Amino acid sequence: MALGRQVYNFRCYFCHGYSGDGKTVAAQMLEPKPRDFTKAEGLTPAAMVKRLRDGKPGTAMKSFTGTLSDREMEAVAAFVMDEFVTRKAPNTSYHTPENGWPDHQRKYGAAYPFVLGEQSLDQPVAELGTEAQAGRKLYLDACVTCHEPKTTSKNWESFPLSHMGEIIRDPVDLVSRPSVYGLHDRPFEVAGLDEHQKAGKKIYDDNCAFCHARDGSGKNWIGSFLEPHPRDFTDPAQTRHLDRDRLLKVMREGLANTSMPAWGSVLSTDQMSDVAAYLDTAFIQPARKARPPSGGADGLQR
Ligand code: HEC
Ligand code: HEC
Ligand code: HEC
Repeated sequence: MALGRQVYNFRCYFCHGYSGDGKTVAAQMLEPKPRDFTKAEGLTPAAMVKRLRDGKPGTAMKSFTGTLSDREMEAVAAFVMDEFVTRKAPNTSYHTPENGWPDHQRKYGAAYPFVLGEQSLDQPVAELGTEAQAGRKLYLDACVTCHEPKTTSKNWESFPLSHMGEIIRDPVDLVSRPSVYGLHDRPFEVAGLDEHQKAGKKIYDDNCAFCHARDGSGKNWIGSFLEPHPRDFTDPAQTRHLDRDRLLKVMREGLANTSMPAWGSVLSTDQMSDVAAYLDTAFIQPARKARPPSGGADGLQR
């Protein structure tokens, strides 16, 4: 059971929930939803082990063959059966003293309704009672980085907000005060683009800027945390090898051992050619003109 719990709390909880009820952030994005073990009928340990071995095609339940040993699969199946299906026990929660969050509920209880989605951020602050106002502020200061806001406002971004201890009074403030990462994700306008470059820009902003930043610097939130980082397209020393052929090849095939995906089966050759034209016009050429590369090796070249 101890081994099963350990495996579950490492590999399964983020979809199926610490309490096995499938009420997770991941579940909001998955269809079908992860199984709610507390309402599981006809689930047997043997059937679970089979699922773990084979996965469930067409769902987010992947095969754990190669990740978990037979012994671990049997242990986690026995644990799920005993803890959730039979005993409906709560397992654990995240903000426990053992995980480094002593006394969490007492200290931060006021923010719980915002985290759990019982209280919407859309309700005007003036309508909230004193406790709820304090909870709202606490939520925006200390919880929002991990707990997605429940709001219909489109202005939220899923990255930590560097408001440096300032109080965010309203989510709309975030638009006028972007974070240090957000600076690189503001709309990036380039004058004089032709039709191809414009089409390339749209594809880039929609698909590539997520990692490479709208301004091509790779200094946005995700880019700053990827290892290796996406290179800075606006630094001539880092783009020396990036001619049209190389751009097209990398886009088509991706880059092994990095998070750069292959786009060959997603974008057409014409679309990739448009994106290459945009990268060149918007980032690579202007940077080369502004700062011609000096001699010396390109440390980043692969
Ligand atoms: C990425 C999300 C995700 C992770 C991680 C995950 N599951 Fe699942 N699981 C699902 C989804 C989605 C289903 C499919 C539910 C359905 O078909 O209705 C599912 C179904 C199941 C089922 C029921 C299969 C059936 O026959 O109905 C079991 C048992 C199960 N998961 C156990 C586990 C265990 C144990 C782990 C950890 C080792 C785990 N899951 C990890 C998403 C996940
Ligand atoms: C470092 C990231 C992080 C921060 C910051 C954070 N949480 Fe959580 N919280 C989590 C994770 C992970 C879970 C478990 C999610 C799950 O079970 O789906 C969780 C779960 C919860 C739960 C469900 C019960 C539990 O303990 O599992 C509550 C309530 C909660 N958080 C409240 C808060 C409040 C209030 C704050 C701000 C004061 C906060 N959290 C800040 C990561 C965080
Ligand atoms: C999931 C993150 C991610 C996405 C999405 C992504 N890239 Fe990358 N990209 C990377 C990483 C990481 C690298 C490797 C570091 C580097 O060389 O920049 C990279 C490298 C590159 C390179 C440099 C290759 C070289 O040889 O130096 C180009 C050009 C590139 N990406 C273009 C694109 C284009 C165009 C798109 C959209 C169609 C895109 N990327 C989408 C993460 C991403």
